[in-house]
Amino acid sequence: MLSKVKSCSIYGLESFLVDVEVDISNGLPAFDIVGLPDAAVKESRERVRAAIKNQNFNFPIKRITLNLAPADIKKEGPHFDLPIALGILAATEQMPVEILNEYAIIGELSLDGRTRPVNGVLPMAIEIKERELKGIIVPLENVEEAAVIKGIKVVGVSSLSEVVAYFNGELKISSHEIRNSHKKQIKTTYDGDFSEVKGQENLKRCLEIAAAGHHNAAMMGSPGSGKTMIARRIPTILPSMTFEESLELTKIYSISGLLSNHSGLIRKRPFRSPHHTISAVGMVGGGRIPKPGEITLAHHGVLFLDELPEFPRDVLELLRQPLEDEEITIARANATITYPSKFMMIGAMNPCPCGYYGNPFRECSCSPNQIHRYLSKISGPLMDRIDLQLEVAPVKFSDLEEPSATDSSTIKKRVEDARLMQLTRYRQHNIYCNSQLTPNLVHKYCGLDKTGKLLMKQAFYSMKLSARAHNKILKVARTIADLDGKQSIKDIHLAEALQYRNIDKYYQVIR
Ligand SMILES: Nc1ncnc2c1ncn2[C@@H]1O[C@H](COP(=O)(O)OP(=O)(O)OP(=O)(O)O)[C@@H](O)[C@H]1O
Ligand SMILES: [Mg+2]
Ligand SMILES: [Zn+2]
Repeated sequence: MLSKVKSCSIYGLESFLVDVEVDISNGLPAFDIVGLPDAAVKESRERVRAAIKNQNFNFPIKRITLNLAPADIKKEGPHFDLPIALGILAATEQMPVEILNEYAIIGELSLDGRTRPVNGVLPMAIEIKERELKGIIVPLENVEEAAVIKGIKVVGVSSLSEVVAYFNGELKISSHEIRNSHKKQIKTTYDGDFSEVKGQENLKRCLEIAAAGHHNAAMMGSPGSGKTMIARRIPTILPSMTFEESLELTKIYSISGLLSNHSGLIRKRPFRSPHHTISAVGMVGGGRIPKPGEITLAHHGVLFLDELPEFPRDVLELLRQPLEDEEITIARANATITYPSKFMMIGAMNPCPCGYYGNPFRECSCSPNQIHRYLSKISGPLMDRIDLQLEVAPVKFSDLEEPSATDSSTIKKRVEDARLMQLTRYRQHNIYCNSQLTPNLVHKYCGLDKTGKLLMKQAFYSMKLSARAHNKILKVARTIADLDGKQSIKDIHLAEALQYRNIDKYYQVIR
């Protein structure tokens, strides 16, 4: 007997339909899987055999051949257990074949036949809706995730026999609905608030600009000045995510198996803070079974690199390309995968190994050579890609005595207003913020008046700017003007933008 069950597999961030074909014939008992299965799919055989027996069905002592079509794309992961088990039961007439075809089936099985949650259910649900199937059968833990997609029936099951009973019409399971519709604005709450950071007005302003124009930023300062503290609070001032952004981010976390409690849409912007011992693959993604790296997990959010010079130089250098392209392409043996990586990079560092170089209150104990070695761990090209660079002053005692400062929601409002101006201005260009401006668009939208041009020229020579740095300053000036609600860039906007390149000078000293 032959049976066919529909399932899905993941490629990059997208999903595609897979037909699980089971043929059972007389002959020496065997169980073969063809159609480019990986090790986890091959292991399915043992789980499926045990699950079928332990749920009191008959496992055929015959020759079983299983094909996963299309046969030319590698199939990964354990989520084929359930469709394979159902295919065998259908081919041996232990359940009906016909209606099986209307659903896609996804799920891992434990040896006793209960279902286990799997990764990648959200992109699979999207594919099923596009292919106009009736619905999707998923492990109970995955229903919230699948139900994000409206217009398909989402059936959550907890065991193999439950699915069989459902298809036999012995068990009714209604489609899972999400209680809070995604159309409604749900208030997201973050831990921490900008109002907890005392003083540091300059730094807060700099990060407000970064948030408003989606610029990268680096902070340099003595230990304990609040760099890490303030960085952790950046997501609280970023604009709320749109539904499309949420969906894209949730897909990334879905395939990475990082959706907490397999919940529905992610609404909080990510804040990723990888440790400096991270590997290249951990940072940009890849591996034998390709997985998104930190730069993709930080998509639409913040990638915070604390203690920047401690990161291996080769890992930092890998960031150069995704910083410009907003995506990363990973080459594999016979194909390539592209993951999105539109992240805001925030770096923090001390100016020297002891941490006090340039501190007005404490003496630095490092030799010029040590400082040189420390700073040169971050290459010039990487530093050049950072839009805002700020030297952070130590916190003053009087600042700590102050009542609490402006809160995150007030700053967020200003950031959202500035973003709206950018969105309107760049509507026809398919970009949404100033940091994405191409050289042509910088020329078009970041024009300076006569005095502005003069100021820029002076700065270009005195600060020894590169062409890229010159463009970045113009983009930052554009954002400052947007925060000010102005259509054209004025001198004060440019003058402020020029202030945020004061780490460069350390680099010019050591070169
Ligand atoms: N501006 C500030 N307002 C209130 N508390 C602060 C401020 N700056 C620092 N602190 C306090 O000091 C602690 C340490 O600050 P933080 O870890 O952010 O310093 P840092 O600049 O990252 O130092 P390091 O260079 O050693 O990493 C914070 O957890 C906070 O309690
Ligand atoms: Mg720190
Ligand atoms: Zn020092």
